[in-house]
Amino acid sequence: MDSIVFGPDLALGIPVMDQSHRIVFDLLESMQSLARPAFDAACHQLAAELAEDLAEENRLMATIQYPLAATHRAAHDGLLASLDHALCLLAAGDEAGARQIVHSLPDWFAAHINTMDLALAIAASRLE
Ligand SMILES: [Fe+2]
Ligand SMILES: [Fe+2]
Repeated sequence: MDSIVFGPDLALGIPVMDQSHRIVFDLLESMQSLARPAFDAACHQLAAELAEDLAEENRLMATIQYPLAATHRAAHDGLLASLDHALCLLAAGDEAGARQIVHSLPDWFAAHINTMDLALAIAASRLE
């Protein structure tokens, strides 16, 4: 992915989800041009932001008794594990390895939003 932009193609119509997705995309976009140690700080900020956003989605799934919650939660857990791995690589001095993981995140996110999050948004909006 060349440009990291949260555009209308990624909007789900659920404000709380769209807003947190936009924040993540903005953060990923800004991280492209950051050198260390600002890059490290941004990685920690991203991990904290994601932990909060994904927990929010997990709570929504529990609230609506979403039937696909286990699979969706597992995808979230996988993402958090990847980010945790990136932070470990940074701590070990492997900047290139950490950047490779971060570089893969926009595509991961776009795919996740357009599949799992879209299905969740449809299920949540039907219950409104
Ligand atoms: Fe999401
Ligand atoms: Fe999700």
